[in-house]
Amino acid sequence: MPSEAGLIRGLEGVVAAATRLCDLDGAQGRLAYNGYDIADLARHAQFEEVVWLLWHGELPTPAELHGLRTELTEARPLSPLLLRVFRLLPKEMHPMRVLQAALALLGALDPDGEDNSAEANRRKAVRLVAQMATVTAAFHRVRQGKRPVPLRPELSHAANFLYMVAGRKPKAVNVRAFDAALVLYAEHEFNASTFTARVVASTLADMHSAVSGALGALKGPLHGGAGEAVMRTLEEIGTPDRAETFTRQALAEKRRLMGFGHRVYKAGDPRAAILRGLAEKACRQSGEGVWFETAGRLHEAVNREKGLIPNVDFYSAPLFRALGLPVDLFVPVIAVSRVAGWTANILEQHADNRLIRPRAEYVGTPPRPFRPLAARS
Ligand code: SDX
Repeated sequence: MPSEAGLIRGLEGVVAAATRLCDLDGAQGRLAYNGYDIADLARHAQFEEVVWLLWHGELPTPAELHGLRTELTEARPLSPLLLRVFRLLPKEMHPMRVLQAALALLGALDPDGEDNSAEANRRKAVRLVAQMATVTAAFHRVRQGKRPVPLRPELSHAANFLYMVAGRKPKAVNVRAFDAALVLYAEHEFNASTFTARVVASTLADMHSAVSGALGALKGPLHGGAGEAVMRTLEEIGTPDRAETFTRQALAEKRRLMGFGHRVYKAGDPRAAILRGLAEKACRQSGEGVWFETAGRLHEAVNREKGLIPNVDFYSAPLFRALGLPVDLFVPVIAVSRVAGWTANILEQHADNRLIRPRAEYVGTPPRPFRPLAARS
């Protein structure tokens, strides 16, 4: 409830701007990008088609899609400077911090770095979508003492990422599941990281700086960080039959159960339902059904004990595990996808900008005279 000054904690329910990118109906559990329902996009579109949709408001023609794929292929390779930096970084450095560090370097090296024109922002958006995937995969290879895997132009964005991480061509069924996950994570209205990107962009800071801010917000466990935290919880539980006891004990200890609850969705996160199906199939095929079973039993127990529903991060965890991704890459993968939405929001913000600067309700000490140091004991 708002205070007398209209203060609403966490800006819950506050409509901060108009957007054409994403229509999110929390009561109905509905999500659409530029009018296309998320279930249709996850089933029928590749990530590159959704990237184009978010940037241009229409699904691409075959020629437009080919052109975007070519631009992404050309933009994917990293400067040798970044690879040299990766070799200097501590191997145990969290890949989200590596992404944050890389963003600063990518911005410094980008020929359009400080140019906020629509054309320059469009070029930078392509480079950011391409290069955040390469940064994530390349650091993972370097921290294992291996050489980064060069991209394969004939592979899609999703397939290239899995290939650059694992160093071997991914199975088509895994590429399809991963591509759908990238589509599902691509955009989500004014979530904390996207809103951060808009706040930074509203100061007319450059696109890389706005994405850097978004990365910091995404890292938090109440937001994208939950993606990794869910897998840690499933590992802590270990087997399906222990989910029940774990849930009762965790709730008794007032623990936040990552992957459950949502600020907007109260009737279910439509993405979670799709990811559940993808996770079940991938876990069965990879022989890691234990993670899907454990997640399923945890879902039942938490829903029964606390009435909470899984969000997008709950079933993406067993899915990413079944696809062979290391757990500490789960949140960077979310960033690899969400950078599409972040850049689309930055383009939208710059197209009709006004500095985002809300007010605060002062509840501190009333006015008082200054007390000199000598009078303070
Ligand atoms: C994402 O905004 C987006 O769109 C985000 C996202 C996107 O695509 O960008 O959808 C992605 O970030 C999904 C959310 C990932 N985070 C988590 O899974 C972390 C766990 N979930 C929460 O902490 C929580 O549900 C939030 C932060 C997501 C939303 O919390 P709210 O709206 O601030 O609600 P709240 O914290 O005030 O909780 C309301 C009640 C509380 O109970 P009471 O204290 O009133 O008795 O529900 C309880 C909370 O304790 N609750 C939980 C819980 N989530 C809410 N209790 C235990 N475990 C949880 N996960």
